[in-house]
Amino acid sequence: MAIVSTVRKSVGVVDVVFGNDVTIVEPVNLYGCAIGNNCFIGPFVEIQRGAQIGSRCKIQSHSFICDLVEIGNDCFIGHGVMFINDLFSEGRPAGRDPSKWARTFIGNDVSIGSNATILPVSVCDHVVIGAGSVVTKDIVRSGVYAGNPARMLRPLANPGHQPSQ
Ligand SMILES: CC(C)(COP(=O)(O)OP(=O)(O)OC[C@H]1O[C@@H](n2cnc3c(N)ncnc32)[C@H](O)[C@@H]1OP(=O)(O)O)[C@@H](O)C(=O)NCCC(=O)NCCS
Repeated sequence: MAIVSTVRKSVGVVDVVFGNDVTIVEPVNLYGCAIGNNCFIGPFVEIQRGAQIGSRCKIQSHSFICDLVEIGNDCFIGHGVMFINDLFSEGRPAGRDPSKWARTFIGNDVSIGSNATILPVSVCDHVVIGAGSVVTKDIVRSGVYAGNPARMLRPLANPGHQPSQ
């Protein structure tokens, strides 16, 4: 009989620095990351070692936030949003060498629509990114962006205005 060797690992919550009043809906896979006060993390989210999430952020189900991603305060990350830190710039995955990965910074009050893909970029404060967009370049002006590659649709009418709850 053939010898079958299977490695089984489990998802879980390991070495995470949590702020106050964080809600997580398990199963999630959170390890070595930092999550600020009053955040919500939906099911089937993975947040990798080194990622940082600010306060009052909502991360909806099935999103993936990788190492070298920093997200500010009051951000909404829709369902199935994918962050990327490896651009395959040498013709193949860079593997486990972090020196070949690139960073992403997301400012404050940024809402990212479902199924968007965020390459290593900087996004300024008060930005909306449409569902299914692929963000390939830095966003330096507040506004609504959509498409692949994402382009500005319009400026935001009231950047920074938070509706009362
Ligand atoms: C990007 C978004 C905010 C734009 O809303 P809007 O300002 O009302 O824009 P409109 O619906 O008037 O569309 C303006 C144009 O952008 C296009 N567009 C809108 N959303 C788009 C998207 N996500 N991707 C590509 N194009 C988009 C429209 O087709 C339209 O094109 P046209 O002028 O050629 O007809 C919205 O469409 C969106 O994607 N929201 C994300 C919602 C979401 O994912 N929520 C998660 C809930 S869990």
